[in-house]
Amino acid sequence: MDLGISGRKAIVCASSRGLGRACAIALAEAGCALVLNGRDPQTLAATAKAIRERFGVAVHEIPGDLDDPATRSVVVAAAPEADILVNNNGGPPFKTFGAITREDILAGVESNMLTPIALVQALLPGMAQRKFGRIVNITSGSVRAPIAGLDVSSGARAGLTAFLASAARAYVRDNVTINAILPGAFATDRQRAAIERVAAQHGVPIEAARADAAARSPARRFGDPAEFGALCAFLASAQAGFITGQNILIDGGAFPGAF
Ligand SMILES: NC(=O)c1ccc[n+]([C@@H]2O[C@H](COP(=O)([O-])OP(=O)(O)OC[C@H]3O[C@@H](n4cnc5c(N)ncnc54)[C@H](OP(=O)(O)O)[C@@H]3O)[C@@H](O)[C@H]2O)c1
Repeated sequence: MDLGISGRKAIVCASSRGLGRACAIALAEAGCALVLNGRDPQTLAATAKAIRERFGVAVHEIPGDLDDPATRSVVVAAAPEADILVNNNGGPPFKTFGAITREDILAGVESNMLTPIALVQALLPGMAQRKFGRIVNITSGSVRAPIAGLDVSSGARAGLTAFLASAARAYVRDNVTINAILPGAFATDRQRAAIERVAAQHGVPIEAARADAAARSPARRFGDPAEFGALCAFLASAQAGFITGQNILIDGGAFPGAF
């Protein structure tokens, strides 16, 4: 399927590894020029090089912490007329409810609510003027169903979702859409770290903890980041202009509700 976005410019935040990287790959495959970002310059450079070589698209790398307004300015300056924005960032660390401090909450709100909103505010007016824009926010399945220990993540991302819900309706007439993808358990470094933590907590081998986590999924496996990237690219496609304000779970059936 031709997604109709060849030659479009996409900013993909926090995209040197994991789900962000998978979105970047899927958008490059659709012919988009990319701006990539991540804190570790070496990992970012390796991802940018791999994408350039594989797809022959222009890739601009912006190393830096996205929570720093200076990094965000450079990211936006690299593609001020971006057609596609994939909002991603690191997730808050796992913490038991009783141990969460005010500082933890502020840091989570900064990373997973205020930072993506700042990028939307910077790019949305131009998208509306040019009559094309696709904004995809990577949030979490925990927005729909709680995950103990990820309360800061759930709260900050729910805040982002609600904050953008009216803008999603206001800008669709300008062919600008705003949607969120809610990942369940995907095989990324973050997921690997979570499994290692559980294995250490329960004193079991990492492989056993991994098999146990996979067995609890109706799909009996973790998601492949490429499956996530493909959904992101579709939401960024020309064909997806009538989809806005949606929160799309991609979790192998883990969410237990019928609706
Ligand atoms: N994987 C899952 O199963 C899952 C499930 C639900 C929600 N999520 C959420 O989805 C998002 C992506 O998860 P993931 O599994 O892909 O994580 P990951 O494997 O840890 O990758 C995170 C990416 O973001 C970059 N990054 C992290 N903090 C950054 C910052 N402050 N500024 C710029 N770049 C930053 C990392 O590069 P550097 O470290 O070099 O900066 C890396 O490229 C996270 O918010 C996560 O909480 C993931």
